[in-house]
Amino acid sequence: MIQPYVAALAGNVPLVILIVALVGFAVAYFVVGPGKRKGPKRHADIPLAMRPYHSDEELETTGMERAMSWGVALAVFASLFLPIYWLIEPTRINNAVDEFYEQDVQAGREEYQNACATCHGANLEGGSAAHPDPDVDAAWPAPALDNIVARYQDSEVVEDVEAFIYNTLFYGRPGTPMEAFSVGQGGSYSDNQLEQITAYILSVQTGELPEAQEFVGQSGEDVFDDNCARCHGVDAEGGVGPQLINVYERYGWSGEDDGSLEEARAAVREAIVNGRNLTGNAPMPDFDQTLTDDAIDAVVNHLEDIQETGGPSSAQIGGPPTVEGADGDEGEDEG
Ligand code: HEC
Ligand code: HEC
Repeated sequence: MIQPYVAALAGNVPLVILIVALVGFAVAYFVVGPGKRKGPKRHADIPLAMRPYHSDEELETTGMERAMSWGVALAVFASLFLPIYWLIEPTRINNAVDEFYEQDVQAGREEYQNACATCHGANLEGGSAAHPDPDVDAAWPAPALDNIVARYQDSEVVEDVEAFIYNTLFYGRPGTPMEAFSVGQGGSYSDNQLEQITAYILSVQTGELPEAQEFVGQSGEDVFDDNCARCHGVDAEGGVGPQLINVYERYGWSGEDDGSLEEARAAVREAIVNGRNLTGNAPMPDFDQTLTDDAIDAVVNHLEDIQETGGPSSAQIGGPPTVEGADGDEGEDEG
């Protein structure tokens, strides 16, 4: 019967301290303090200051002993209370933190099932989404999320996976089916909810890496179509990722078969192996775990075959290449 009250009090430490202090003051007041003398109205007619009190003898023996015992008792209490509190408090704080964490994970699991499972799978095993361009049949793979920590563990472009997941949820990936979920970016999830989803994802990591795709009977162009075209365009003309038609030239290729070709080739291969994660752009995934070395060589060869020179010097993200100055700026006044 009293349990609910005890439980309610246990959760409210300041209130407990207040009650204990008040009781303590009351005891002190009535047992040893001025309240004690209020008892029998023996001397009601004598002014307070002139009432008889304990005899000298009494004051020097029992009275003094009583006062000193109280002093000792309070000193013992004070010297025990702080160390005990100091011992118990960290455990209490840790338990509270664990409890909050479990609540977050639980809430995150529900939010995940509502908002993410259709594309990334009910068990975070990965899935796919329709391509944002209705003319393209091929689905856009939605990566498995139960291994995201392992996948980015050795990444050169992602340092903090937790922040990476959170930011992906916050901003989405413009141009891909992965939309932004934060309120500020047009979604409907608060920062706290995004943290909960992130906590949930991190709590169910398998640590297993995906195996690199078999590379048998495929051409470099096949590899490109399967893995790159959705971002760089079927003809490498650009989309979410920059056009790659003169990417060698952008990396310093002179157009001749000389040292500059080797350097450009190495730079392009490096981009494919490590991926890219420059702020403000959609990240390019790394392919060192999903494509075998042979497949990466084949796709680099394919890119090399289609290289042209004389293109724009900057990697234009978001559309087919345009030659600088040749396109009339939209909205420009005529005449
Ligand atoms: C409409 C389908 C769709 C929905 C819904 C969706 N995603 Fe995604 N998500 C994708 C796709 C597709 C990608 C890959 C984008 C790319 O190619 O860069 C992606 C990428 C991601 C990534 C980055 C993975 C990586 O390996 O880099 C994370 C993390 C992620 N999504 C989490 C979520 C979470 C959490 C939710 C729910 C709040 C969610 N997504 C909802 C389709 C979706
Ligand atoms: C999810 C979209 C996406 C996919 C899939 C993708 N890329 Fe990229 N790629 C990008 C983006 C975005 C950039 C630009 C990144 C930056 O610089 O911020 C980029 C950059 C590059 C670059 C460097 C270009 C430059 O000008 O520096 C190369 C080379 C490249 N990608 C090749 C590939 C190849 C080959 C594949 C397939 C094996 C591929 N990419 C798959 C999005 C993608």
